[in-house]
Amino acid sequence: MKIWIFFHGPLEEGYPEAKETLRICDEAEKRGINYKVMNPDNIDMLVDSKGDWRAMYEGQLLDVPDVIIPRTGTETTYTGYSVMRFYERMGVPFLNTPRVVETVADKLHTLQVLAAHGLPVPRTMLGKYPPDLDMIEKELGFPLIVKTLKGTRGGGVFLSETKDKFKDLMDMMVEAGAQQHIIFQKYVNSSFGRDLRVFVVNGKVLAVMERRGAEGSFKSNISRGGAGQPHPITPEIEELALKVAAQLRLEVTGIDLLFDENGFTVCEANSSPGFSGLEPSCNINAAAIILEAAIAKTGKKVTGAEPTIIDAGKGLFGKILQWGRAKIPASAKSDKKMNIAA
Ligand SMILES: Nc1ncnc2c1ncn2[C@@H]1O[C@H](COP(=O)(O)OP(=O)(O)O)[C@@H](O)[C@H]1O
Ligand SMILES: [Mg+2]
Repeated sequence: MKIWIFFHGPLEEGYPEAKETLRICDEAEKRGINYKVMNPDNIDMLVDSKGDWRAMYEGQLLDVPDVIIPRTGTETTYTGYSVMRFYERMGVPFLNTPRVVETVADKLHTLQVLAAHGLPVPRTMLGKYPPDLDMIEKELGFPLIVKTLKGTRGGGVFLSETKDKFKDLMDMMVEAGAQQHIIFQKYVNSSFGRDLRVFVVNGKVLAVMERRGAEGSFKSNISRGGAGQPHPITPEIEELALKVAAQLRLEVTGIDLLFDENGFTVCEANSSPGFSGLEPSCNINAAAIILEAAIAKTGKKVTGAEPTIIDAGKGLFGKILQWGRAKIPASAKSDKKMNIAA
C-alpha cells in the first residue's frame, strides 16, 4: 500500500497545516503504510501518445501510488493541478479529486454550485476595480464583506463597515495596482465572530465545532486566534452539510456555516480542512479518519509490512525528505511503461 500526500510547504512547526499533514503521516506510520509527502510543484511530468508517461523527481522515475491525498487546497498551483490530473489519468484515486479541489478553491464557484441547487449562501458579487459603489450599496448594502477569491485561514477577508471605508479600501487597492480577484459579499451580522465548522467524510457528519473569534474579531478562524468547542450535530446542520458536500462532490471536507436569522448559510467548503483545533475540541482523530478514507479508496488491505524507508538526504523537498519521502524503489527506476487509464 503506497499513499502519497501532496503538500505545498515545508513540514516545519509553525508552517500552516504542516501539523495536519504530519498527523496523517503518524497514522500511516502506525499502520506500517508506505507513504510519501511530496510538493507537486517539484515533480516533472512527461506525457506522450504511446503510453510512455513519466513523472520524475530529481531525475528519478517516480512510481505510481495506490491513492493520493491532496492537502494543497486553495494554494494548489497550476503545476499542482497538472500533476494531479496526470495521476488521475493513470487511474490513481484521489481523496478529493483534482476537479473538486479546484471548484472549492474558488469561493465564488463554490457558491455558484450551491446557489444553483437552492442551498443558502450569502448574496455575493464578483469584484471589479474600480467597483460601482452605488450598485454595490443597492445590491449588498453596508457593512460589506470583501474577500479574495482564493483566500484561506481568514487572511483575505475584510469587513467594510461603511460605504466611505469601502471606497477608501478600493481606492487604495486600485492605487496599489491590485490584480487579485475579489468578491463582495453580504455581511451576515448575526454570525459576528462565530460560525460552525462541520467535518464531513463520505456522506457522514463526524463532528461540528462552534468557533468563536478572538476578542473583537468578526472572523472565527482558529488560525486567527479563534477558539473551538463541540456543537451538537442537529438534523438541520446535518442535512445542510451533507447537501453541500454532495453537491460539491467532496469526500472529505470542512464546511463553514454562518449563523443567519433563519438558521444557517454556507460560507465556504474546504477540500483539505485544517483539524488541529477540531481534534482536541471534538475529541476525534481526524487524521486517522482521513487516512482510513484514503485506504478505503484503494480497495486494498493494509498488510503493515511496508514501512516507509526514510531518506535522510536533502533535496528539493528540503525537510520533507526526512519525514516521509520513501526511497524510490529499484523497480520504479526501470524503464517499465506506466499504466495509463483511458
Ligand atoms: N459574509 C460573511 N458574514 C459574516 N462573517 C463572515 C462572512 N464571510 C466570512 N465571515 C467570517 O470570516 C471567516 C473567514 O471567512 P472564509 O470565507 O471562511 O475565509 P477563509 O477561507 O479564509 O477561512 C469566517 O469563518 C467567518 O467567521
Ligand atoms: Mg473558512
